[in-house]
Amino acid sequence: MSENPITKTSLDTIVKFARRKGFVLPSSEIYGGYAATYDFGPLGILLKKNIENLWRYWNVTSRIDMVEIEGAIFMHPKTWEASGHIGGFADLLVEDTVTKKRYRADHLLEDAGIVENAGGLSPEQIDDFINTNNLKSSDGNTLGKAKKFNLLVKTHLGPVEDETTVAYLKGESCANIYLDWKAVQDTTRRKLPFGIAQIGKAFRNEITVKQFMFRTREFEQMDIEYFCGPKEADKFYEEWKQYRWDFYTKCLGFKAENLRWRQHEQDEKAFYASDAWDIEYNFGEMGWKEMEGLHHRGSYDLDQHSKFSGQDLRYLDPVTNERFNPYIIECSAGFSRVFLASLFENYREESLESEIRVVASFPYELAPYKIAVLPLMKKDGLSEKALRAYKELRIQNISCSYDEAGSIGKRYRRCDEDGTPWCMCLDYQTLEDDTVTLRHRDTMEQIRIPLEDVLEYLDDEKFGK
Ligand code: GAP
Repeated sequence: MSENPITKTSLDTIVKFARRKGFVLPSSEIYGGYAATYDFGPLGILLKKNIENLWRYWNVTSRIDMVEIEGAIFMHPKTWEASGHIGGFADLLVEDTVTKKRYRADHLLEDAGIVENAGGLSPEQIDDFINTNNLKSSDGNTLGKAKKFNLLVKTHLGPVEDETTVAYLKGESCANIYLDWKAVQDTTRRKLPFGIAQIGKAFRNEITVKQFMFRTREFEQMDIEYFCGPKEADKFYEEWKQYRWDFYTKCLGFKAENLRWRQHEQDEKAFYASDAWDIEYNFGEMGWKEMEGLHHRGSYDLDQHSKFSGQDLRYLDPVTNERFNPYIIECSAGFSRVFLASLFENYREESLESEIRVVASFPYELAPYKIAVLPLMKKDGLSEKALRAYKELRIQNISCSYDEAGSIGKRYRRCDEDGTPWCMCLDYQTLEDDTVTLRHRDTMEQIRIPLEDVLEYLDDEKFGK
């Protein structure tokens, strides 16, 4: 086994790797791209689905107290009034007085090394820091005063464009869950505690988008909203914190040393949270960054939505006959950040004789392709036999690739970069006795087994076995 990583992975390496292999493609690339919008290419979409499916397995399928929904992106505009997003969902920005270019004030102070965590500063504090440090824009110009900038993406729906047709794209994906909570509880006849999960899109008019897919204006969130009685909320908050940590270490296979907890300062917490902790990931040179937020939301959401909708959203406790708005524990993971972390976690370069071997060492369940089918030669009926085996694996719903171009060594390298754990090579012996070689990506060791046993062999690698 070649355990010899020779470089520390940089964001630039990951961006280039993701583009070269087609994990992530800049959206609208032929028009020069469009700021911070990305498409998932063939390998990327397979990795995406695998992350989502593992998230679903861990948080919904394997638990008896969870259900899942999928909500619409457009929601009644009152949703955002009630949630507080129209009034309070804002970042502070400062403007270059000459170019009029805008900067996120907290990022500007953090990047200049003036404040380590500027998320909770008031406009006045920001102005003070800028003045005392004589901070200028990146173009060297004076900066204006810090102003609030609402992050909701606004549009109009319908034939006219006036105040009556204003609509917002979801500022946080979870909003449907609060509005649907009573309907879900009624239709599923659930008792507290139980949770509703959703993977969905969110949109934010972020002032600065940077660091690849880390901060974008369109992104997905993988949300869990866990409904419980007020007295149990602290206990479930702690339980979910542990459970979400285990998701990264036990289910996705991230190293614990690449993860850490960070509690939000009092003045930094989102307006809806009474306590908030982030799970941060160590994104190499980018440093420790938030990947998931866990919020103790109290009964804020249901209180607000019952007030604004006039509907009784309370839960009737079948034992005490009490009615109350449940408390909510929220675990909200940013999909693209988990995706990016998976690339950081698994990308490695190894020196191997005179070359560098790039390997995406995804665990089997994350790997886009589980196996690659490679005929040793194109001639003598090897291609035909390999293609038949390839089609059969696909019919069996195994995600697999096929490659017959170039030397077998080059093809192994391509598969290593794809992150494919197994390469199945069909050679002249295969034509005689129907056996194949299986080569493992990480150890590069090979074994010979009957072709008909390959499926069973792969099955043994599945999650939980
Ligand atoms: N419903 C709670 C909520 O939206 P949040 O902390 O604002 O909380 C949750 O967002 C997660 O969504 C974050 O931990 C982060 O991973 C991800 N996220 C937030 N803004 C993002 C952006 N502009 N681009 C990509 N991911 C983002």
